[in-house]
Amino acid sequence: MRTTIRDLQRLKAEGQRFAMLTAYDATAARLVEAADIPVILVGDSLGMVVQGQATTIPVTLEQMIYHTQMVVRGTHKALIVADLPFATYQVSPEQALISAARLLQEGGAGAVKLEGGEALAPTVARLTEAGIPVMAHIGLTPQHVHQLGGWRVQGRALEAARALVAAAKAHEASGAFAIVLEGIPSALAAHITARIGIPTIGIGAGIGCDAQVQVFHDLLGLIEEFTPKHARHYAELGAAIRAAVRQYAADVQAGAFPTEAQSFSMDDGILAQLD
Ligand code: KIV
Repeated sequence: MRTTIRDLQRLKAEGQRFAMLTAYDATAARLVEAADIPVILVGDSLGMVVQGQATTIPVTLEQMIYHTQMVVRGTHKALIVADLPFATYQVSPEQALISAARLLQEGGAGAVKLEGGEALAPTVARLTEAGIPVMAHIGLTPQHVHQLGGWRVQGRALEAARALVAAAKAHEASGAFAIVLEGIPSALAAHITARIGIPTIGIGAGIGCDAQVQVFHDLLGLIEEFTPKHARHYAELGAAIRAAVRQYAADVQAGAFPTEAQSFSMDDGILAQLD
C-alpha cells in the first residue's frame, strides 16, 4: 500500500515532519524508497539535472510520463507525485485535466504538482473534483523564472507576501492536499504553515514548514559545480563516482581488470577442438 494523501494530512495534524525527495528513474527511486521517504517527486527539475537544460521550461509531458513510469516501476510504497510541465496546464482547467490524467493513467503517478498562485485555484478545483490529487507550488516557481527575472527569493515585500498567503489559502480551499513553498523567507513560510490545514513542503523556505523537499542530485553532491543555498550535501557522490571511474580506467590500463572473478570459463576439451 502506497502512502496516501490522507497519511500526509494526518502527519500534519500530528505535528510530524516528513521528507520528500525527487527521483527520475527506477534505480534512484528504489534507493529513496528504501530510505523510508514517503513521497517521491518526479520533478521537472529533471530538465536541469538529468537533461542538462538551463531551466525546467523545455521539459515535455511525454518526458514527464516516461520518467514517472520508471519511478513508479522502482517503487511500491511511496506516493509518486509528478510535475505538470510548463504550458501543459495554464491554458485552461480542461487542458490541465487532460495533461494530469495522462500523468496518472500512462505515468502511474498518484498525484500531480503544478506551479502558480491564486489564479490557478480554479484549475486545482477542476482537477480535484475529477479525483486527481493536486500538490500546489508557490513562491520561487522555476517555470516562471523568466517572469521573475531570475532565481530570486519571493515574498519579501508586503504585497508579494500577502499574495503568497492568499495563494496558499486559495489552493487549500480548492482542494490541494499539500503545497510546496519554494524560495521564500522562513518567517513567511512559518506564517503560511500556521494558517492552512494542509502540509507545507519547503525548499529554501526554512524550518517552519511541515515537510521539506530536495533535489536528489543536490542532496547527494552529484553536481559539483554548483550547490543552491537551500541544499545540503549529505554525500559527495560526484567525487566518489569520479574516483571510482578513474580507478576503473587505471585498472583496465594496468591489466588489473577483469580478473577471474569477473570472467567466464569453458571446457578445455572444446577449446582444443577450435581452429
Ligand atoms: O521540479 C522539482 O524538482 C521541484 C522541486 C524543487 C520542488 O519542483
